[in-house]
Amino acid sequence: MSTSLRFLAAVLILFLVSQHATGQPIMRIPLKTKTLWSTDDVALTNDNDNTYFGQIMVGTPGQPFNVLFDTGSFDLWVPSLKWPKPRSKKYNSSKSSTFKRDGRKVEIRYGAGSLKGFISNETVEVGGLRIKQQPFIEATEAPGRRIYERPWDGIFGLSGLSKSSITGTRPIWRAMMEQGVVKKKVFSIWLRRYGDSGKEGGEIVFGGTDPAHFTGAHTYVAAEGPHNMFKISSFFVGKIDTKVCSKGCNAIVDSGSTYIRGPSDLIEKINKQIGVAADCSNYDKLTEVISFTIAAKTFTLTPRDYMEKRNGKCKSVFAASTTDLWQLGTPFIRAFHTVWDHQTPGTVKLGFAKSK
Ligand SMILES: *[C@@H]1O[C@H](CO)[C@@H](O)[C@H](O)[C@H]1NC(C)=O
Ligand SMILES: *[C@@H]1O[C@H](CO)[C@@H](O)[C@H](O)[C@H]1NC(C)=O
Repeated sequence: MSTSLRFLAAVLILFLVSQHATGQPIMRIPLKTKTLWSTDDVALTNDNDNTYFGQIMVGTPGQPFNVLFDTGSFDLWVPSLKWPKPRSKKYNSSKSSTFKRDGRKVEIRYGAGSLKGFISNETVEVGGLRIKQQPFIEATEAPGRRIYERPWDGIFGLSGLSKSSITGTRPIWRAMMEQGVVKKKVFSIWLRRYGDSGKEGGEIVFGGTDPAHFTGAHTYVAAEGPHNMFKISSFFVGKIDTKVCSKGCNAIVDSGSTYIRGPSDLIEKINKQIGVAADCSNYDKLTEVISFTIAAKTFTLTPRDYMEKRNGKCKSVFAASTTDLWQLGTPFIRAFHTVWDHQTPGTVKLGFAKSK
């Protein structure tokens, strides 16, 4: 055998072994992205950022929906036939052989608005992985309308323990782990960095990580509770330790948020310090970096990570929260590829590595 053939054979064996070892190849779901900035709806002028979504199938045969994969909420919902938004995809239970009626009425509040609907059970398919008897919400209305204006059809909640604290049903990621549709109890999210061109918005991987999208090793931190909360142990503006997290700040990674939210007094100081001019006049001059320490490792956000520039307007992604909880949204995930690792029973670890 020539050297290259021998090499090929070795690679093939390795490939077959790894396929066998994991049983199930990892499932990569490409995420599309759409900018909400240039909408004429006045209520949306704050949502000047990219939103990310990917496709799932509900029912048998599968009815396709674009969903936001949201690590900040528990439940799965798609629009029902009653959903009033025109041109929206709507789930028709009469077309599905796997539909099971439940009918309990539910209501959910999100940062971006609230939602009403009822529970049904269905087979849900995510990138070829089939989850059976999954309770989900057939949404009937979204009071306040803001959800109607989104470019996606529904939300795929990825948080929660054995039961959603909103609907009392088992969240779909828990079902995926319990039904063994993923062999490795890990999922990970990569979002394309802000300002990079191309249609590819990112990727969510069920069952592992995609080495194409991070550099170095992940730093892991223990997380707990239904939202996978963890500690930030210091918070720097430039070289100055603000000391606000010296006793530990609670944080979550929220892929459903386009902001980095924190306590309002500190956010106000940060925004004053970084000094983003709304007309972008100082865009190229900004240098201040913002750093967090998580599990003894420093994670630094540069102006490129925390600034948004669209249509000649600039703003910072730092926004005030009504609580003490830090919510690290899509600007954080764009900078740091994030892993949710549930492999050790009873515990969850979050891992962060530089995104690429
Ligand atoms: C729902 O599906 C049933 C069965 O295919 C069909 O008869 C009905 O017209 C559909 N409803 C709507 C609103 O599309
Ligand atoms: C819906 O699914 C859940 C969990 O898989 C199951 O416990 C429940 O009995 C199902 N409900 C119906 C109406 O089939």
